Amino acid sequence: MRTRATDLFGIEYPIFAFSHCRDVVAAVSRAGGLGVLGALYFTPEELETELAWLDANTGGRPYGVDVVMPATYEGGGLGDADDLVGRLQGMIPAGHRTFLEDLLAEHGVEPSTESAGRVLLGWTDQTARPQVDVALKHPIALLANALGPPPADVVALAHEHGVKVAGLASNARHARKQVDVGVDIIVAQGTEAGGHTGDVATMVLIPEVVDAVGADTIVLAAGGIGRGRQVAAGLALGADGAWTGSIWLTVEEADTPERALPKLLAATSRDTVRSRAWTGKPARFLKTAWTEAWESERSPGYLPMPLQFMLVADALPRIARSGDGELVTFPVGQIVGSMKAVRPAAQVVYDLMSEYVEAIERLTAITEG
Ligand SMILES: Cc1cc2nc3c(=O)[nH]c(=O)nc-3n(C[C@H](O)[C@H](O)[C@H](O)COP(=O)(O)O)c2cc1C
Repeated sequence: MRTRATDLFGIEYPIFAFSHCRDVVAAVSRAGGLGVLGALYFTPEELETELAWLDANTGGRPYGVDVVMPATYEGGGLGDADDLVGRLQGMIPAGHRTFLEDLLAEHGVEPSTESAGRVLLGWTDQTARPQVDVALKHPIALLANALGPPPADVVALAHEHGVKVAGLASNARHARKQVDVGVDIIVAQGTEAGGHTGDVATMVLIPEVVDAVGADTIVLAAGGIGRGRQVAAGLALGADGAWTGSIWLTVEEADTPERALPKLLAATSRDTVRSRAWTGKPARFLKTAWTEAWESERSPGYLPMPLQFMLVADALPRIARSGDGELVTFPVGQIVGSMKAVRPAAQVVYDLMSEYVEAIERLTAITEG
């Protein structure tokens, strides 16, 4: 099949797969889609290792890298990345630390032993730029950015390297801003999505964005896509491909934490919540004792990005490996209700495409009467 997105990247299927796990990224690219590695949690040195591995394991198929350069966050202009972490740590109120440690103790989570130094990583312009520099030294096909328009000079730099730039947008106005700074592809992501997400549903958002950005900009549909019927719907709404995230959390290759996986497989589409309890900006993840505690009367409230994540980042791995498990949560979208089996990533790509074909045949039969 051909869309403008498959033509642009020379891929077989218009399936884009966001994942923080290199094995998933490589498997999707090898299966004919386009895997995109989330760089957020990697130091520049670690990212270099991951991308060298991808260069050797994608079989020459294209792949992409995703960074997080938020348009707005606390601490912008506070100095370079080295002293930024220390200064931001100092902005976290003691009451928030006490609330968190009390909550963890109530659930039997082991006390902190690790340094919280690496928690800022990709959440700011200063810390994401070295990731961009590393990424552009590799033969990547796509550089994506979450949380607002990327800086215009980063877009220009990517273009100089022959790399296309994608930006995630959750409303038509933001999509236009991205086009204005030179972004080639808009990932129009509806509120159903896992991770940071806006409040407009995919069904409403895609045609609005397609109309707002004009015919020259490719739009990918995101948020709630996990079945071939949903891929067909995205294309019917005017998109040139599907950008997916949640469904890769339960594939065989994924490195999803052991205690989160059964919760994901058991969850229904009603078991997620859009909350600031992870990063300070609204993100969708599994509703558990963690999200409920942050919403409760005793909660001190959320801190702005990146302070909220700096506060909780050291607790998340401890929650993942110790305690009663009730606090265990994970970013995931409403499609989690359809994620009932662990399959190889390539199988997921083929299942998406075969159900897509069935959907189109059904529509064709309906149309022809
Ligand atoms: C666990 C998880 C982490 C995510 N982290 C990022 C990220 O770091 N950068 C980004 O651009 N998008 C991130 N996203 C959003 C995805 O890129 C994608 O837009 C979204 O998952 C699509 O909706 P879906 O979850 O319904 O498939 C994340 C999604 C999930 C599920």
